[in-house]
Amino acid sequence: MKLINKKNKNYTQTFQLFTEEEWTKTNKNFNKNISIFFTGKKYEVFINTTEENVTYFIGLGKSSLKNFEIQQVAIKFAQTYKNSIKTVQSLVIGDFINQQQFEEFVKGLLIGTYHYPFDKNHPFWNPAFEIHFENLNQKKLDIISQKAAALVNGQTACQEWLNKPANLKKPDVLSLYLKNLAKKYQLKYTAFNRKKCEELGLGAYLSVNQGSAYDAAFTILEYKTTAKNAKTIGLIGKCVVFDTGGISLKDHQNMHYMKSDMGGATAVIGALIYASEMQLPVNLVVILPITDNAISENAFLPSDVITAYNGKTIEVLNTDAEGRMILADSLSYLAKNYKTDLLIDLATLTGSSVRMFGDTCGALFSNDEDLKNLLLMTGDKTNQRLWNLPLWDIWQDDIRSDVADLKNISMKPIGDCIVAAKFLEQFIENHPKWAHLDIAGVAFGNVGYAKEKAATGFGVQLLADLIENYH
Ligand code: BES
Ligand code: MG
Ligand code: ZN
Repeated sequence: MKLINKKNKNYTQTFQLFTEEEWTKTNKNFNKNISIFFTGKKYEVFINTTEENVTYFIGLGKSSLKNFEIQQVAIKFAQTYKNSIKTVQSLVIGDFINQQQFEEFVKGLLIGTYHYPFDKNHPFWNPAFEIHFENLNQKKLDIISQKAAALVNGQTACQEWLNKPANLKKPDVLSLYLKNLAKKYQLKYTAFNRKKCEELGLGAYLSVNQGSAYDAAFTILEYKTTAKNAKTIGLIGKCVVFDTGGISLKDHQNMHYMKSDMGGATAVIGALIYASEMQLPVNLVVILPITDNAISENAFLPSDVITAYNGKTIEVLNTDAEGRMILADSLSYLAKNYKTDLLIDLATLTGSSVRMFGDTCGALFSNDEDLKNLLLMTGDKTNQRLWNLPLWDIWQDDIRSDVADLKNISMKPIGDCIVAAKFLEQFIENHPKWAHLDIAGVAFGNVGYAKEKAATGFGVQLLADLIENYH
C-alpha cells in the first residue's frame, strides 16, 4: 500500500468516511436512496456501485469518537471486504479527518489484514495499491506510512508467534527467530543456556526449565539509541511457550490455550520491533525467560525449595505457578545488572485476573503513582485498557513460608493475581518505578479474524505508545 497526496478526476474505487453528523450534513449531495441504507453508524458499510465506480461508504459513528475507534472500524472493514476490494488507485474522502485520525485509519487497514498463518495476500499488501488522500501533504503521509508499517510489523509478529501451535514454537525455534531479529535490527543478543544460568544462580528460572527437554534460553535483547540523554526502559515478557502446569498438572479441558502463555513476551517483541523500525530515541533492555513448563523426571516438585537469583528462597507449593518463578529472576537480574528509568513486566500470569476482568482489561500493579497513571492513560488511549489493583502489605503474610523466605502461592482461594504481584515485588530490588501487567485475560481471546480464540495483539500498541512518548 502506498499513500499519495493526490486527487485525480476519476477513481474506480473510493472509500468515503462519515461520522453520523457528517452524513447528516452532506447526504443531500448523494442519491436519496442511500440514506435508507446508510446512516454513518460505527462499522456500517454501504457499497454504492455505478458504471464507473465503486464507493464504500464507511460509518465511523458519533463525531465525538475516539481515535482508536477509527482503527477498529478500519480493521473490521479490511477483514470483511478482503475479497471485494480491488488493487486499483483508490481515493479516500473525509474532509473532517485529521492527521491522527488518518493514521489510525491506515493502521487499522493493515492490522485488519492479519490472520493465521500470516500471508500478505490481502490487496492492501500489494505494492501497487495506492491510496490517494488530499487532506495531508506527502511528508505527513510518508510519516504515517512509516509508523503504520512499523506498528503492523510489530503487531503481526506478536500475533503470529502467539497463534503458532506448540509444536511449531519450541524454545530453540523461538531463539533462532530472536537471534535473526537481533541481527536484522542490530540489537545486542545474549542468551544464557542451562549451564550459564546455573553459574549465574538463576535458580527460580531454572526450577521451571529443569523439567524441559529443551535447553534454557534466558534471553536478553538490547536496543540502543544514538540520541543523547535518552531514557532506558526495562521490559520483561513471560515466555512460557507451553504451560502444562508441570507436576501440578492442569485440567485437559482448556489446556490447548496454554500455547498463549508467552503473551507477555510477544507483546514485548512487538514493541521492540516498533521501536527498532522507528529508531525511537530511547534505550530498551528486554528480558525474555524462555521455557516450557513440562512434566518429566527432572521436573520440579511441589515442596521443592529453590534459591532465586537475588538469594531469596522459595517454597514451591504449586508448579503451575511457574510464571512468577521465571519472572522473579528476570526482574532481579534486570534490576541488578542494568540501570533503567522504568521496569515493566507483562505476563499471562493468573487465572485470577481472568476471573476478575475477563477480556475487558489487564490488571495493573505499580509502586509508582506517575507510572501507574501513565499506563492507565496510555491504555485508554490505545484501547488496551488496564485497571489498577493494590499492592498493600497485608498480602505479604500470605506468601510467608515456614521453610523458605517465600512460598509461590498463598494457598488461600482469594486474589491470586494480587498475591502473584506481591510475590514479584520481592524481586524488583527496590526499583522505584516498576509496573506489572497481568494480561492473562486479554492476550488471547475473541478476534475478528478467527473462529476460535486467537492472539489479540494486546500490549503492542500500549507499549509502543508508551515508549514513543516517554522522554
Ligand atoms: N499461565 C497460567 C495463567 C493463565 C490462566 C493464563 C488462564 C491464561 C489464561 C499460570 O501459569 C497459571 O497456571 N496460574 C495458576 C496459578 C495457581 C496455580 C496459583 C492459575 O491461575 O490457575
Ligand atoms: Mg501455570
Ligand atoms: Zn503459565
